[in-house]
Amino acid sequence: MTRPRILVLGSDGQVGFQIMRTLAPLGEITGSRLDGAAGLKIDVTDHASLERVLVALRPKLIVNAVAYTAVDRAEEEPKLATAINATAVGVLGAVAARIGAAVVHYSTDYVYSGVTDRPWREDDTAAPVNAYGRSKLAGDEALLASGADALILRTSWVYDRRGRNFLLTMRRLLAERDEVRVVADQIGAPTWARLIAQGTALILAQTAVDGFRLGDRRGVYNLTCGGATSWHGFAEAIRDFSGARCKVIPVATAEYPLPAPRPPDSRLDNARVEATFGVRLPDWHDALRLCLEEGG
Ligand SMILES: NC(=O)c1ccc[n+]([C@@H]2O[C@H](COP(=O)([O-])OP(=O)(O)OC[C@H]3O[C@@H](n4cnc5c(N)ncnc54)[C@H](OP(=O)(O)O)[C@@H]3O)[C@@H](O)[C@H]2O)c1
Repeated sequence: MTRPRILVLGSDGQVGFQIMRTLAPLGEITGSRLDGAAGLKIDVTDHASLERVLVALRPKLIVNAVAYTAVDRAEEEPKLATAINATAVGVLGAVAARIGAAVVHYSTDYVYSGVTDRPWREDDTAAPVNAYGRSKLAGDEALLASGADALILRTSWVYDRRGRNFLLTMRRLLAERDEVRVVADQIGAPTWARLIAQGTALILAQTAVDGFRLGDRRGVYNLTCGGATSWHGFAEAIRDFSGARCKVIPVATAEYPLPAPRPPDSRLDNARVEATFGVRLPDWHDALRLCLEEGG
């Protein structure tokens, strides 16, 4: 029996890298990177070549881990953020619908305003407060409107042992400094890229025998680690696990102005993904320990 082809777009990003290593039991994986190293070179803003590759490969499943993730820079480059995070996603969805490929796409807690007294549910009104969030929301809408058989997984505060992320930045600062000041009035759930990939694989394993068709399970699902903390709490946990002596001083968002505003409370409610697929990621603190226990 021939194994289904799976195309992973953005295979060198935090999530894409882990997806490449996690979905292998489900099919023949082809990765794509912007720089073309060790895989196909695809710039998703080049719609003609994106379409050409999809039509030529005819994957059964496309995992889109490509994104413009520079939240502050997006305020100055909203057109580029929208081209990558929204327009290309709509094109991808339309071609996927035509060739009969299922799509997994990732979205963000930053589609919500952050003003809430409970974790956000998938059908709560999205009202992003920055350009990155607006571009990601437009991508979700474009994919849903494309008619593709699509799963949109909204996650948050992604980190890994490689890439650009808070964990690696904080480990460096904690080693170099006597004290660091970290925002304590924004809360969310730090989520290890490995667990996003594992959660994705466990969901997809349930659809694999049907050629990854999602049918009435298509749509938007939150997928983050459990519990919640602030960036300050996350930094303290990194400090405690690493044994550094650096002081972690809580500061207010107003004391640490950045170009892009952030939602103050972006906790996501993960009940839907658990009820539909039986998948629940571990608590953020346990996940951080698992990640750091790998050493290095
Ligand atoms: N990072 C977070 O904290 C966070 C939080 C919530 C949700 N998410 C979502 O989770 C998903 C994965 O994020 P991540 O953290 O894994 O992102 P990431 O590490 O920034 O990786 C994004 C990937 O997209 C590639 N890319 C960018 N522009 C491209 C283009 N025009 N054509 C082709 N590839 C392009 C990048 O390639 P280069 O490296 O070569 O530029 C990189 O490999 C995204 O949908 C993101 O919005 C992330």
